[in-house]
Amino acid sequence: MNQALFYQGRRVFNYLADEDRYLSGSRQPNLKFGFIGCGIMGQEHIRNTVLEGRAAIGGLYDLSQRSVEHAQKLVPAGQSKELQIYSDLQEACNDPRTDALIVATPNHTHLEVMRIAATSGKAVFLEKPIATTLTDALEISNLTEQYQLNLHIGLQYRFKSIYSEAIREVLTLNAIGEVQQVNLAEHRFPFLDKVGQWNKFNRYSGGTLIEKCCHYFDLMNLFAGARPDHVFATGRQAVNFKAFNYANEQADALDQANVVVEYSNGVSGSFSLCMFVPGTSEELVVCGNRGRLSVSEKAQLGEPNVNHLELWSGEHGVSKTSSPAYPGYIEKAGHHGSTFFEHVNFVDSILGQPNAGPTLDDALWSVAVAAAAQQSINTHTPVSVKALFG
Ligand SMILES: NC(=O)c1ccc[n+]([C@@H]2O[C@H](COP(=O)([O-])OP(=O)(O)OC[C@H]3O[C@@H](n4cnc5c(N)ncnc54)[C@H](O)[C@@H]3O)[C@@H](O)[C@H]2O)c1
Repeated sequence: MNQALFYQGRRVFNYLADEDRYLSGSRQPNLKFGFIGCGIMGQEHIRNTVLEGRAAIGGLYDLSQRSVEHAQKLVPAGQSKELQIYSDLQEACNDPRTDALIVATPNHTHLEVMRIAATSGKAVFLEKPIATTLTDALEISNLTEQYQLNLHIGLQYRFKSIYSEAIREVLTLNAIGEVQQVNLAEHRFPFLDKVGQWNKFNRYSGGTLIEKCCHYFDLMNLFAGARPDHVFATGRQAVNFKAFNYANEQADALDQANVVVEYSNGVSGSFSLCMFVPGTSEELVVCGNRGRLSVSEKAQLGEPNVNHLELWSGEHGVSKTSSPAYPGYIEKAGHHGSTFFEHVNFVDSILGQPNAGPTLDDALWSVAVAAAAQQSINTHTPVSVKALFG
């Protein structure tokens, strides 16, 4: 029997008495999450926690009353009576009623939040990037070891349907043979508004390549299957927010870049970023010695998303095209369904299953490539990634 979440969300069954609801009955959550940071991403995590169903919303903490009020509206009626609104970080981290913490505060606050969250003894989900600098990321890694934390980092693009299929074809089924080249591109609309506009400023975000592009460097590292050796990059603030001034500070986030990465096994990686495009277009092309796989996810502004996968095998086997997708109600919950599957993985890991998503090491290496690229842009020279670790 497949008791899909789909039936639970259908209002059409609301006329039934509780004892008559089986397929459409709600799962009873056995876990409780505390939310630290209730902005756009914190709210996406609340929606996915509710949809996933094995955890309830235990409490909310945010410095902004507006964010808390909006987040509170997403809490199901049956859970709102016991919902805690915390007044400080210590209280939020140490509430004995919660089993895990979801941290979705701006990047520059990740370390200060983790210094307290790590002592809580709870599983922690921390949004990407792990931190704004490699030094801070290494401190979070040390805290994780010291407190034996079950820490997940929000690099959920691995769970997008297009990348999930690419991972299966290339890494599980070996469909293109030995990987030689990994090319990624993200062309999209500008950074959206945020509380305090933190994402327009390098000192809060860590810089665009760390803030946004850690997702793509994580994917590049994964498909390359080796450690990055050298990085060369160019980039600049070409178009966006050039006249944007907030609290007497001029925005300095770059909006275009090209990054080339040389891996220790000889694999060549490249990444193209453009952030002044009317829509979103993400593409991954992986070439191996027996074929080529490309996947893409594209939508012009306001239009529905179109997903595409293409495998060329030549004389080595079956070539094919497909349109990877999840059910619409899962895709709508955020980031085309990837956040939902990230939650499934997080809850599974709290319940004792192995982590099927990115590890802490993966998160560190995604920031390492981004930091090397940022340094290369500043110095106009190739950067040794190893040298960044000192
Ligand atoms: N995984 C993804 O694809 C993805 C997408 C978007 C954002 N993010 C990440 O999520 C995090 C939050 O980003 P957002 O887009 O939700 O930003 P946002 O500005 O919408 O929300 C951030 C919230 O954190 C609150 N806050 C700030 N400092 C705080 C503190 N010290 N303690 C508690 N609350 C605090 C703010 O008041 C705000 O409500 C960032 O790390 C961002 O990089 C990840």
